[in-house]
Amino acid sequence: MKLQNPKLGVNIDHIATLRQARGTDYPSIVNAALAAESGGADFITVHLREDRRHIQDSDVFNLKREIKTYLNLELAATEEMKQIALELVPSAICIVPEKREEITTEGGLNITKKLAYLSKFCEELSAKGITVALFLEPDLEHVELAASIGVPAIELHTGEYANTSDARREKELDRLTQAASLGRELGLIINAGHGLDYENVREVSKIGLFTDLNIGHSIVCKAIDVGLASAVELMKDQLKGG
Ligand code: PXP
Repeated sequence: MKLQNPKLGVNIDHIATLRQARGTDYPSIVNAALAAESGGADFITVHLREDRRHIQDSDVFNLKREIKTYLNLELAATEEMKQIALELVPSAICIVPEKREEITTEGGLNITKKLAYLSKFCEELSAKGITVALFLEPDLEHVELAASIGVPAIELHTGEYANTSDARREKELDRLTQAASLGRELGLIINAGHGLDYENVREVSKIGLFTDLNIGHSIVCKAIDVGLASAVELMKDQLKGG
């Protein structure tokens, strides 16, 4: 059975990227989250990276306290991140692979090699009532492995679909559809994200099998497209009557 429209998780990491670029205390992460919510975000997603290149520890605690919807925290399966998660107890967590030198998350988890470790890691978080998802490639074997360790949810990596040529796009959509269908049959909640933008998201949404879509970079970029003129007007106002 097809689902209604997916919920939108707005990833605001790149608001923090701008802040960290200058070491200022603006733009405010909490204000950004509240603005996203007033635009209709169903929940807020952030990735606390091991190198803290954008989101900081204090951000996740401030967000959890201040937002009106709920927090979905992306993190690597490390001991340090587990301790933070157990203290914070966000509503949802998505476990992602992380490499220090990457610009952004480059693919799904290597679930085949790390099954036992991930299973225990997820169990500890789930015991706190957190809905835990694993970030996976749209690969049938990976979906089956996730179901076998009892996680309630997976997020399928849409990066290949988003970055592929027009000629391969149908193929990538098909992979996503197959993986999502199998996941649903196995009783998993199926989310998706990465590289989705104002053009390519419709085809993914139309699949009708995704509960949540997590989207960040394209939305933050659109905010600049639609908001820069007003920001300049406000600065011009400050120059008046010099
Ligand atoms: N989902 C996951 C698991 C991610 O790691 C990211 C990037 O942090 C996103 C979704 C959002 O990707 P994008 O910024 O390309 O929309």
